[in-house]
Amino acid sequence: TLRDVHFSHDGDRDVLRGVTATIDGGRTVAVVGATGAGKTSLLHLIAGLVAADSGSVTVPAAGSRIVFQEPFLLAGSVRENIALGIDVPADAIEVALAVAEAQFVYDLPAGLDTELGERGVGLSGGQRQRLALARALVRRPAVLLLDDTTSALDPTTEAKVLANLRAALSQTTVVAVASRPSTIALADDVLYLDNGQVVAHGRHDELMQSVPAYRQLIEAFEHDRAAMDAELAEPIDAGDRKSV
Ligand code: CTP
Ligand code: MG
Repeated sequence: TLRDVHFSHDGDRDVLRGVTATIDGGRTVAVVGATGAGKTSLLHLIAGLVAADSGSVTVPAAGSRIVFQEPFLLAGSVRENIALGIDVPADAIEVALAVAEAQFVYDLPAGLDTELGERGVGLSGGQRQRLALARALVRRPAVLLLDDTTSALDPTTEAKVLANLRAALSQTTVVAVASRPSTIALADDVLYLDNGQVVAHGRHDELMQSVPAYRQLIEAFEHDRAAMDAELAEPIDAGDRKSV
């Protein structure tokens, strides 16, 4: 629950302005908004990484875990990267990897003992994202915060991960920044942020009907996605390729 939260990074310009929202336990909420709207800042507040200047943020006692869009890997084995110093039973790792659709690790040269990082095997962006998700899952958070964490996955895998999360973690609240319309549509509710304020909070299809600015944003996302897909379909020089 957030109550009239104000927050600024520099103590000057408010990035979140009077945000009030109650997210019911066990739900999956998509946080949607244009770039700079304050989505990441909102997740950081819920995660307790930053403190509100005024207002209150309440999260369940079991705490929250945030998974970033560009997750870090440590030099160490896959297992160490998931456990990060805590004692995790082997079956819990197995379950977390399955939910995160990260079974690719079993195909690495030494499976869970494969060394990652500078001296070891490199992983793709999507592989990192899934490993980071497994890392969060073994900690059994009450609230799982995903900051565009599945953006590097193809839409089919992304949808699978979200379905897995829903099936495996019916008690866990998932708050996910998302920009793919098909993903947003899978959430129970959407929190639509614009310029640091909650403009709307409701079901995706309802907001599409009743909030023109939201519909325009979703249409722009769809347009971007189509342009990206078209670009991928064309033969391109490696050197010409835009980073995403
Ligand atoms: N900001 C800032 N200092 C930071 C991070 C962000 O001043 N260390 C500002 C940004 O310039 C932006 C606002 O805070 O105006 C909101 O940032 P953020 O919450 O990161 O926006 P997002 O909605 O997450 O944007 P994006 O989609 O680009 O990730
Ligand atoms: Mg962000």
